[in-house]
Amino acid sequence: MKHLLIDCDPGHDDALAIMAALANPKYFNVLGITTIGGNQTLKKVTENAKNILSFLNADVPLAAGQAGPLVKPLQTAPEAHGATGMDGPYFDGADYPIASTNGVQFLAEKIRTSKDKVTLVALGPLTNIALLIKNYPELLPQIEEISLMGGGIHHGNQTPLAEFNIYVDPDAAEIVFQSGIPIIMSGLDVTEKAEITVEEINQLKNQGKVSHLAYELLSFYNQSGRQFGFINSPIHDLCAVVYLLKPELFQGSYADIHVITDDSPARGMTYGDFRRIAPEPKNTFVLEDVDRDGFVEVLREALVKLDE
Ligand code: RIB
Ligand code: CA
Repeated sequence: MKHLLIDCDPGHDDALAIMAALANPKYFNVLGITTIGGNQTLKKVTENAKNILSFLNADVPLAAGQAGPLVKPLQTAPEAHGATGMDGPYFDGADYPIASTNGVQFLAEKIRTSKDKVTLVALGPLTNIALLIKNYPELLPQIEEISLMGGGIHHGNQTPLAEFNIYVDPDAAEIVFQSGIPIIMSGLDVTEKAEITVEEINQLKNQGKVSHLAYELLSFYNQSGRQFGFINSPIHDLCAVVYLLKPELFQGSYADIHVITDDSPARGMTYGDFRRIAPEPKNTFVLEDVDRDGFVEVLREALVKLDE
């Protein structure tokens, strides 16, 4: 059993990652979910998180984290996720309870009160996680690992060199990668191989309430991806959850990862020291390949379970 805290900026792919986590209670005990400004403003991504959790009739504590990065101004991604941050589906706006504490304090309390070590799943900019590390160093031994979607060794998407989550808050990312906590990095090298086809998306239509929501989310996301040259849809954030469920679907290498934090064209670039003997610990397992069919099957199985 893994005890998860999910930090996210829903986000179409964040929503699918949350579904996969909640669909597997035999493997995941979801202690809580926090939101972070990223794909859209904190207000909007938190509203999206409420809508998802309400739709799923979930009973998971939710807290809103930081509105923006540690140093840089927030840059959102309406071109990818729409004005709401999760365009496509209609939600009836049902309310969902939210914690009164800031997301960072919420994460700390959940870790402190857990009798077992906790796994952090980070699906947006790493601001909340960096502040957790800086403000509560005594809790680090209680963190089993961080499975994050972010970065890319070969290329970026926000810029030629930087992936969006890392680009938005590179200072936070450097703190996280250098924290010494074991990290599994689902960067673009693997997430752009973890793609669902249009045919597979259409197979979800009218197959159940949750499956149809996934169809609506992915239909919008697929159309949005066309502007960036994608025909199929990489479900980036879902990799960070599927790895924890079925690591055998993935291949990767260990590295010491650093992040460029200046305002040069390399801002947000993640570069790795993969040398056999490296001066600093290679605490990040960089995912490089995935069994795509097996990855999509995990999503299908999760949706069937949630529709039962
Ligand atoms: O680059 C992909 C990442 O940016 C994903 O987390 C997606 O949700 C967006 O936040
Ligand atoms: Ca995300």
